[in-house]
Amino acid sequence: MNTLEAIQTRRNIKAFKPEAVDKERIIGWLEAASFAPNHRMTEPWEIRFVGPETRALLNHKTDFGGAPAVIVITSKGGASEPEREENLMAAACFAQNFLLAAHAEGAGAFWSSLAASPRSRDILGIPEGHDVVGIFGVGIPAEIPPLKDRTPIALKIAAELA
Ligand SMILES: Cc1cc2nc3c(=O)[nH]c(=O)nc-3n(C[C@H](O)[C@H](O)[C@H](O)COP(=O)(O)O)c2cc1C
Repeated sequence: MNTLEAIQTRRNIKAFKPEAVDKERIIGWLEAASFAPNHRMTEPWEIRFVGPETRALLNHKTDFGGAPAVIVITSKGGASEPEREENLMAAACFAQNFLLAAHAEGAGAFWSSLAASPRSRDILGIPEGHDVVGIFGVGIPAEIPPLKDRTPIALKIAAELA
């Protein structure tokens, strides 16, 4: 699968097969993800693997679509607000890389914002000042959601500056 195809065919997966995905494979996708752009090489991303007890406490409404694995991606904050923002941008690039790497190998992920709530942060032990990118169910898709059309990019060109 080439890069354009991976970008265009990735979906937010809501239903997974029960089969396990080896942690080593997930680590491999995370390793690939870490080549994301990041200013001053801060490499701000951190990953938490969520085990069954913690996952049950989170009480996600569909239990992450039955994904066999759940991970959290956070960004470590920053010494100033601009640095924190840049780190969060880099961590979001990391997350997208991870999604594309998994997708390119026949897996998929369910991105949920659940981990950002104060209750979830507490359960997950996310330190103050760290930003949550998302919590991700990871596994082999059981159903691929249909494409959600995007606005033609021509309509997003806000200006053609001199
Ligand atoms: C920051 C962020 C938070 C998201 N949180 C959720 C969420 O809580 N629940 C959910 O179903 N999807 C969530 N998504 C996924 C989007 O809903 C999904 O990407 C969008 O509907 C487009 O679908 P696609 O990814 O399949 O193209 C989130 C995506 C981002 C970038």
